[in-house]
Amino acid sequence: MQGKVAVSGAKNAALPLLAATLLAPGTYTLHNVPDLRDTRTMLKLLQILGASWERDGSTVQVNSVNLTGAEAPYELVKTMRASVLVLGPLLGRVGYARVSLPGGCAIGARPIDYHLNGFQQLGVVSSLEGGYVEARVQGELTGGKVWFDIPSVTATENLLMAAVKAKGETIIQNAAKEPEVGNLIDMLTAMGAEIKGKGTDFLTVTGVKELHPATISIIPDRIEAGTYLIAAGAAGGSLEVTDCDPSHLTALIEKLRAAGMQIEVYADRCIASRSVDGTPLRAVDITTMPYPGFPTDLQAQFMALMLCCNGVSIIHETIFENRFMHVAELRRLGAEIVIDGGSAVVTGIPRERLIGAPVMATDLRASASLVVAGLAASGTTEISRIYHLERGYEKMAEKLRQTGAAVEQVAD
Ligand code: EPU
Repeated sequence: MQGKVAVSGAKNAALPLLAATLLAPGTYTLHNVPDLRDTRTMLKLLQILGASWERDGSTVQVNSVNLTGAEAPYELVKTMRASVLVLGPLLGRVGYARVSLPGGCAIGARPIDYHLNGFQQLGVVSSLEGGYVEARVQGELTGGKVWFDIPSVTATENLLMAAVKAKGETIIQNAAKEPEVGNLIDMLTAMGAEIKGKGTDFLTVTGVKELHPATISIIPDRIEAGTYLIAAGAAGGSLEVTDCDPSHLTALIEKLRAAGMQIEVYADRCIASRSVDGTPLRAVDITTMPYPGFPTDLQAQFMALMLCCNGVSIIHETIFENRFMHVAELRRLGAEIVIDGGSAVVTGIPRERLIGAPVMATDLRASASLVVAGLAASGTTEISRIYHLERGYEKMAEKLRQTGAAVEQVAD
């Protein structure tokens, strides 16, 4: 692998920021919005709710002057759980929302009880009927104290989007500290909201009566950037990953260095190298944690990197209970992995024993791990169901081809 790849805007920042355009009527300008299946789904949802939008390159303008609905239908929510992010802004703007309850998904049960319990503290009553959550503000939205058992990214975002319009002060404790939450706080602040504590787990929101539209840039996708740094380790060679924010990737960079890769870090780019002399990487253990810990969204890709390491790597998944769906597929290439509860034990094998095979993608990050493994393996790896990949990676095959990797996207 040789050359450069440019990172797109973050999917998991674009989704809440697009939802936030529902909060106050007007025209918003969002820069660096990745063109992905998930962002298209969110734009479709905004349209169903009455907003209109236009895309010019990576800039999206949303006009939310006329909201005509407050319902996120099952057909959309079942394809993208993040549709629940319209709950907060709709409660903040019209005091009512009806959103299909997302079911479980490949990576776990993923309930939304934190969202609903949090809204309750702000004076929202919710009930479940016909598979839909109906949430309604009783009287007026009022500030309250919210505490999460586990820091939840989308629950923190949903609560923030309602609390900015609530009367008085809202405190969110054990809030998620992910950079995507920070990006949303920046947008809400540009809209006139008062939020203190960005980047910490203690957020204080002082509600305001009126908000106004804003212009904002989506932060670079740290998971996409991380996937390419890992891919460089799997394929060997030297890869410059540009348009990223390495400060969001500290946990991964530390682990890649511990495994024996060289990572040069600059303000907005990284150069990742692994010698192609055949020396295997060292086995390294990881434990997924909320930010700034090692991200669960890079666990599958890191596991793929460890397949040919020297030694035994133990991978603990602590965020989602079923995020090892890629293991059975990786085994088809020859990988030696044993699952023990929330841990996967990877015993490194010599590279010549990792051999391409037809495999099936099961979820977004699992798909990315199959691409990483396919780059490391000899022969051809054919990945089916790549629509999962299209949910979160913009032009992945094209970007990888620029680095000399033999990756081709054919009809699924
Ligand atoms: N949880 C609950 N109840 C809730 C909310 C969360 O029990 O009401 C639990 C979850 O089951 C999980 C933990 O809390 O065990 C943390 O989950 P979190 O709520 O933070 O996840 P999320 O907000 O649904 C976002 C990302 C995910 C990413 C996780 C963790 C978006 C749109 N999605 O999901 O991204 O894995 O945070 O970092 O921001 C992906 O991009 O592939 C992806 C799955």
